[in-house]
Amino acid sequence: MADFVSGFWNIYVMGLVALSLLFCLFILLSNNKRQTGPVELHGHVWDENLAEYNNPLPRWWLYLFWITLIFGVVYLVMYPGFGNKPGILGWSSVGQYQTEQARAAERYGPIFAKYSQMDVAAVAADPDAKGMGQRLFLTYCSQCHGSAATGARGFPNLTDKIWHWGGEPDAIRATITEGRMGVMTPFGGVLGGDGVKDVTHYVRSLSNLAHDSLRSQRGAELFAQNCTACHGADAKGNPMMGAPDLTDNYWLWGSSEASITETVTNGRMNQMPAFGEFLGEDKVHLLTAYIWGMSNKADK
Ligand code: HEC
Ligand code: HEC
Repeated sequence: MADFVSGFWNIYVMGLVALSLLFCLFILLSNNKRQTGPVELHGHVWDENLAEYNNPLPRWWLYLFWITLIFGVVYLVMYPGFGNKPGILGWSSVGQYQTEQARAAERYGPIFAKYSQMDVAAVAADPDAKGMGQRLFLTYCSQCHGSAATGARGFPNLTDKIWHWGGEPDAIRATITEGRMGVMTPFGGVLGGDGVKDVTHYVRSLSNLAHDSLRSQRGAELFAQNCTACHGADAKGNPMMGAPDLTDNYWLWGSSEASITETVTNGRMNQMPAFGEFLGEDKVHLLTAYIWGMSNKADK
């Protein structure tokens, strides 16, 4: 109700509710007749031969209406619904949510806390912790990273050894806690169509993809002038800025000439949301271990 700044709307709603209840009451009372005189036809005829007797409404039918009316009043007294009156039971959906949250925290808190004392590698090796990490992942992360965490275009694969922001436990923890913003500035204006094309061929050459060697040579110079500040002189990336390694043939946005041209021309702005406050340290710890464990399996 915080949206309704003036108290008027509250009174307006209460007035409407009271009026409609009173109206129902009036209808019920005005139909509360018993048969007094003889049963007669009303005298109206529809559809040639359809006539109506002056019988009152059946009692059982009227009682049903009484019951709904009484139910409505009792409900409004006990539960919130009459304007902003809370109802004498004090129930509210927010309250119920908080109670359930508190109960869950009481029940699962100690389990999460137990794992938060263990280091990431030990948690990753614990089958129960892995199950919990997976459930957390499916609830909070899978809509972007996929249920198998293998990602999609623009959403990184979290099961491999390739990281924009670093794959050490502390880096993963920081990613989940604070979120990340991968920003590549647009170069279409600076380089022009031909320049973009040249640098695109150079980028493709770094992963041994088909390229034009003349363009690639020219692109190498443009790369040294424009791109090394973020991607590094060797193009191996910089996890401080989330700038990817361009030599590994792993592509967040695709390796085709068209995709790379699009990246270079328009730049990229890609956000991983922060979860630290929402999930709390203990759950972030479990997730960190789960993610780290996927790319650091014992057999890999
Ligand atoms: C709204 C979509 C979205 C959700 C939800 C989301 N992520 Fe992300 N995540 C991203 C994007 C986009 C990136 C890439 C950011 C970039 O380009 O730098 C990313 C990057 C990451 C990275 C860094 C990958 C790297 O290469 O360094 C990790 C780790 C990660 N996410 C884990 C998680 C976890 C764990 C969750 C659940 C708590 C989660 N993400 C939920 C969109 C999401
Ligand atoms: C300001 C830092 C910065 C500069 C300068 C920069 N990049 Fe980037 N680049 C990034 C970041 C950060 C990403 C990752 C974007 C994301 O997370 O989606 C990226 C992504 C890319 C990608 C996509 C990689 C993939 O996996 O799909 C290509 C290709 C690329 N850059 C090429 C270049 C070229 C070529 C230049 C120079 C013309 C350049 N970048 C200059 C920061 C930079």
